[in-house]
Amino acid sequence: MMVGGVGKPLLFGAAATLLHGALALNIPRAQDATCTGSFTPVSASDFLAAMNPGWNVGNTLDAVENEGDWNNPPVVGATFDDAKAAGFKGIRLPVTWAYHFTSQSPDWTVDPAWLQRVSDVIDMITSRGLYALVNVHHDSWVWSDYSQASANITMIEEKFYKLWYQIGTKLACKGAQVAFEPINEPPGTTAEHGAEQNKLNNIFLQAINDAGGFNAQRVVTLVGVGEDGVKTSQWFKAPDPKFKNPWAIQYHYYSPYDFIFSAWGKTTWGSDADKAALEADIAAVRGNFSSIPLVIGEWAASPVATETAARWRYFDFFIRTAAKYNTSTVLWDNGADFLNRATHEWRDSVAEDIRRNAVKGVVNSLPDSTTDGASIEQFSSAYIYHKLNSTITDVSLPFILNGNAFSIVKLTKTGAELKKGSDYTTSGTNITFSSSFLKTVITPSSPTGSIANLTLSFSAGADLLVNILQYSTPVLGTTSSALPATSSDLAIPITWAGQNRPAAVKAVKSDGTFLVDDWTQYLGPLQQGRMTYSGQWDWDGSHVILKAAVLDAVRSAGKSTVFTVEFYPRVAGNAVNYTITV
Ligand SMILES: *[C@@H]1O[C@H](CO)[C@@H](O)[C@H](O)[C@H]1NC(C)=O
Ligand SMILES: *[C@@H]1O[C@H](CO)[C@@H](O)[C@H](O)[C@H]1NC(C)=O
Ligand SMILES: *[C@@H]1O[C@H](CO)[C@@H](O)[C@H](O)[C@H]1NC(C)=O
Ligand SMILES: *[C@@H]1O[C@H](CO)[C@@H](O)[C@H](O)[C@H]1NC(C)=O
Ligand SMILES: *[C@@H]1O[C@H](CO)[C@@H](O)[C@H](O)[C@H]1NC(C)=O
Ligand SMILES: *[C@@H]1O[C@H](CO)[C@@H](O)[C@H](O)[C@H]1NC(C)=O
Ligand SMILES: *[C@@H]1O[C@H](CO)[C@@H](O)[C@H](O)[C@H]1NC(C)=O
Repeated sequence: MMVGGVGKPLLFGAAATLLHGALALNIPRAQDATCTGSFTPVSASDFLAAMNPGWNVGNTLDAVENEGDWNNPPVVGATFDDAKAAGFKGIRLPVTWAYHFTSQSPDWTVDPAWLQRVSDVIDMITSRGLYALVNVHHDSWVWSDYSQASANITMIEEKFYKLWYQIGTKLACKGAQVAFEPINEPPGTTAEHGAEQNKLNNIFLQAINDAGGFNAQRVVTLVGVGEDGVKTSQWFKAPDPKFKNPWAIQYHYYSPYDFIFSAWGKTTWGSDADKAALEADIAAVRGNFSSIPLVIGEWAASPVATETAARWRYFDFFIRTAAKYNTSTVLWDNGADFLNRATHEWRDSVAEDIRRNAVKGVVNSLPDSTTDGASIEQFSSAYIYHKLNSTITDVSLPFILNGNAFSIVKLTKTGAELKKGSDYTTSGTNITFSSSFLKTVITPSSPTGSIANLTLSFSAGADLLVNILQYSTPVLGTTSSALPATSSDLAIPITWAGQNRPAAVKAVKSDGTFLVDDWTQYLGPLQQGRMTYSGQWDWDGSHVILKAAVLDAVRSAGKSTVFTVEFYPRVAGNAVNYTITV
């Protein structure tokens, strides 16, 4: 922890003194850019309005160490065509520079080939009429983490200036559709860290202004510690007024954490309390920065981690609430979440349709689903879940019409319209599908998994899908094993039979207490003892995976543990047990 600024007295000095220090470095002023093109200045609020809604080309140029090293190949122009066709107007281009320096202090030369690549990708974006927001991304933890006790603040400030001077020089003549963001999610927890980030915002502005070209008029989105709304509200200070750049504040929003990241069995969202909490968060940032343009530069509720009906309602409410507080949004997409870049398909087309309507202020109808934390089961009107070999009956699904009316229902694949009266009826906010219709879709030979989708249209807003999905409880290849001697992940073979993923995993030790996060005993029945996706459990096409961290917890507890893997729908009995014995 940083104590009283020991060793870092300059942190709290006047920014001007330090900026002078940075300027005294060996900067080749002769290279300051002069541009031949034209630049039509735009205000920060007009820029953010014009790029709203935006889309992040995530896990791409920000990959550690190089573009292509993570789950996405180098980006191609067609990806920006896909984003534009989906209604996005701006692209946030996260870039990690850390592995592209070709010299050390004091010059910190950036590989010209990497600068060129970034410049070329920006051109791919702007040539399509899209706005671009380019940044310095994972550098925040690779080399510029000023919150580390061992941080060399002199080095960080020097390198930060030199990096932005070079970026500013390379991009100096880009048009006004290109904005800069100093750094992504800088780690930190204290007011001192907040002060350092304010200082780095000024160093960044000094560097791009020194680089010349059009940079003095370029829009920037400044950041606070963590790029989170609360810490930014606490510690962000406006930049030195000598800089004339139009500026906005950017922050990120992934909340509530448990729903967005599938932690502790939180597969529901949308209660009045859930909505009030989200609105309070966004209102608080607006409340602190009442006259400053705001952009939420990252947010998401990924199909990988969230229940469908809850996610659709989250998309709708999040976009409307951001708009209510005059805040633009940029969806995070790591390449596995939303756009399948290889096939050009959006994995959750309904979520995108909901977003497109919500951002225009068009009222959407939405599927209902469980929101009560005391529930022991979870229903979702995004599905007709049919249990294999069970009798087919009428199925009634409640919707939140929001003043709209049911309009047309079609089989998604063929476009064949269902007949009102015989195939379905509506009553108030419910739509009821008749057993006679469902028997034409779910036949004795139907496999488990999604059998068909229905497209529901309403008098206004997005079309919704109802996924007719047959399931039985998946079967594990083995149901127990001894605790492995060494720390490693455990992949348990599974034969999926419906929705091919777990909903939640509960872990109970032989003494009846929970393996991890004992405090979850105070949560509702769907959450007690449940662990967290990704860090503690995962899955693939043929396995449920218990992560090494979980096996280590069993080892340190020294108690045999039963893991209950639960599936969708979250109803009694749709779960299997796996025991690790010690
Ligand atoms: C800190 O960084 C500066 C500038 O790069 C360098 O001159 C100095 O030697 C570094 N200090 C330490 C303790 O490494
Ligand atoms: C400013 O932000 C803090 C932290 O989120 C919050 O408690 C406070 O209510 C906000 N102020 C206003 C005026 O909204
Ligand atoms: C949104 O905020 C900007 C300033 O950031 C202001 O110019 C604009 O009028 C606001 N728009 C609305 C609809 O309130
Ligand atoms: C479903 O019924 C079929 C045929 O009657 C039978 O072979 C199968 O075992 C049943 N499956 C389940 C999960 O009950
Ligand atoms: C609406 O559907 C729900 C869930 O199937 C059911 O419990 C409720 O009785 C239905 N209401 C009406 C008015 O049909
Ligand atoms: C129904 O839609 C979902 C979500 O788009 C999709 O994953 C599934 O494959 C579709 N089912 C069929 C039978 O096409
Ligand atoms: C899993 O084990 C728990 C406790 O041992 C038991 O209560 C539960 O019924 C089991 N569930 C299944 C699906 O076997």
